[in-house]
Amino acid sequence: MTSCPFHQAPATASAVSEEINDFFHLAAAEGSLSGPLPQRVAEAVAAAAAGRAGSLSEEELAFAARVAWRNEARCIGRLYWRSLRVRDCRAVTNSAGMYLALCEHLEQATREGNIRPVMTIFAPTESGHAGPLIRNRQLAGYAGYRERGSVLGDPLNCALTEEALALGWEPPSVRTAFDLLPWILVGRDERPALYPVPRNLVKEVPLWHPTLSWFRELGLKWYAVPVVCDMVFRVAGTEYAAAPFSGWYMGTEIGSRNLADEDRYNLLPIVAEKMGLRIDTPSSLWKERALVELNAAVLHSFAEAGCRIVDHHTASEEFGRFCAQEKAAGREVSAAWDWIVPPLAGSATPVFNQKMCNLRLRPEFKRVAESG
Ligand code: ARG
Repeated sequence: MTSCPFHQAPATASAVSEEINDFFHLAAAEGSLSGPLPQRVAEAVAAAAAGRAGSLSEEELAFAARVAWRNEARCIGRLYWRSLRVRDCRAVTNSAGMYLALCEHLEQATREGNIRPVMTIFAPTESGHAGPLIRNRQLAGYAGYRERGSVLGDPLNCALTEEALALGWEPPSVRTAFDLLPWILVGRDERPALYPVPRNLVKEVPLWHPTLSWFRELGLKWYAVPVVCDMVFRVAGTEYAAAPFSGWYMGTEIGSRNLADEDRYNLLPIVAEKMGLRIDTPSSLWKERALVELNAAVLHSFAEAGCRIVDHHTASEEFGRFCAQEKAAGREVSAAWDWIVPPLAGSATPVFNQKMCNLRLRPEFKRVAESG
């Protein structure tokens, strides 16, 4: 088992050649190569030696993106890796072009709630150039306003909110806990530019509870499609820092983490009080009870809104099927136990007792260094 695969020294030329070689062999083995193997390897090695990135065909790029998902140790939803829709936007280098492509991404991913996995790949990162880059963690995200010792909104996004304000973003005149952030896009050799979030393309789901009528008055909501923008897609020695991808939510991501974590919306005490629970002693299990109702509200509201979402029991079962499929294909599954086991009823799901190994597999998604 290897740990922390994310921080590594810059690859040497021979390491890059090896990575190129490995990738094209994999693509060949899985029937996704766009030419004779020796020729494809030679072309890619020559391109890399000349400092040119991205000699993959569209077919090879799509295969690489799907495999990067298949390899992502922290993702429980990988049963669907083959269905990823890959949009080849490698010709797009400026922020105006990125903006249009990102709007299309939202459209193609959301489909009124019939969500499907999509990835958009912009021009690769080249040494000496910052962009293309998306500063937002995700395409949808709520502002976090620091206010005298507390935060209005999502504390996760305080730094980005301040960055947007410094760039001239004007928040709504009445600030709320759910103000969608604008996009900060960096084209190649451009300064960070502010773009308004296309509100009509960001589907949001108001949260309510099937039996607790007061729940709706909490005024909670969440967006339907998580489009992750802060990971670098790496294939055959080339890195794409602007390669946003999206699937659909597992309910616990919202109900157990985003809305419940103490350093996020921290709603457990509020929900527990409304439920009439004693919150002065942990042994009343008020946190567990509040978590269950918060998660029930998320799953119920998304279902009622016609928005695809998966509960953690179903996702765990699907992950088991993914592992079985991979085994049948003769491949090892890389998995991080602490990410795969859901943050609710973990021990009541089949993944709890599963032995997992976090391997370094490529192509891959890497985390971008935290920006503060
Ligand atoms: N955990 C992140 C969030 O709550 C989303 C990560 C991607 N999740 C997914 N289901 N594709 O916003």
